Amino acid sequence: MSEKQQQAVITEAAKISFQNVTKRFQVREGRGVSEFTAMDGVNLDVRPGEFMAVVGPSGCGKSTLLDLLAGLSHPTSGQILLDGRPITGPGLDRGIVFQQYALFPWRTARANIEFGLEAKGFSQKERRERARHYLALVGLSGFENRYPHELSGGMKQRVAIARSLAFDPDVLLMDEPFAALDAQTRESLQTELLSIWEQTGKTILFITHGIDEAVYLGQRVAVMTARPGRIKRIIDIPLGKRSEDEDIRSGAEFGALRHEIWSELREEVQRSQAFDRSPVTAKAGLAK
Ligand SMILES: Nc1ncnc2c1ncn2[C@@H]1O[C@H](COP(=O)(O)OP(=O)(O)OP(=O)(O)O)[C@@H](O)[C@H]1O
Ligand SMILES: [Mg+2]
Repeated sequence: MSEKQQQAVITEAAKISFQNVTKRFQVREGRGVSEFTAMDGVNLDVRPGEFMAVVGPSGCGKSTLLDLLAGLSHPTSGQILLDGRPITGPGLDRGIVFQQYALFPWRTARANIEFGLEAKGFSQKERRERARHYLALVGLSGFENRYPHELSGGMKQRVAIARSLAFDPDVLLMDEPFAALDAQTRESLQTELLSIWEQTGKTILFITHGIDEAVYLGQRVAVMTARPGRIKRIIDIPLGKRSEDEDIRSGAEFGALRHEIWSELREEVQRSQAFDRSPVTAKAGLAK
């Protein structure tokens, strides 16, 4: 089989496929407007049911990648396929958990979850039952009637996760959902997310700054370059079932994988810092 045919087979089987995706933004510069390349020629295939983690330095285009996949913005060039079809806009086939808590402040936890279900045509009784079920799944039974300002950061993020799960999307897109949480809450939510993934078989694209988090959660970890973001390397994480080994994080294999990713990432972080410090190279981020 030729390389081209092989690529075609992989792409056909992929749940999500980024094909040479570039994203440029118009930015103000002095009195004029110029173009800023946030992502440049990204190629990435995610398999059905896969848990893919993405790491990269701050500002390299991770959230941009997720927004494109969510259909909230469009590639400048290239295309993104979901189940082999180009993404044209947002859809209920993708559940999104944003970097910042994105709950409606005027709705209770339950009403936040019911929101997506209204659009899907569930009856009031079904909505209530589903909201209750998913709140229980993320450990928030009894908090149905709380408003977001009455919940802790970790609880808000749990509601956001419950909401994204409640309408049963095939794909979950998560942008550093646990970054703002304390270490204990983060670990318990990681474990919960893994067990939800094991139970439901959803395809998950999980963006994170945390190398440990990426190794612990991902079946593969994609490392992005400094801006403009590209996929630098994809590393397989051949660790067994996380739930069967409580101490997986302190094992030698885990340590070796963490080190491998850290080395890849360190180069990029240094590059991105050098980039930000130099006025000349900072300008080089602006497209030709
Ligand atoms: N709407 C926009 N207009 C102009 N520039 C943008 C826009 N959105 C993002 N950018 C720029 O694109 C680059 C990538 O941004 P993005 O938010 O994707 O980074 P990130 O990898 O998610 O960073 P972080 O890890 O800090 O969340 C940044 O330099 C950012 O300033
Ligand atoms: Mg981001």
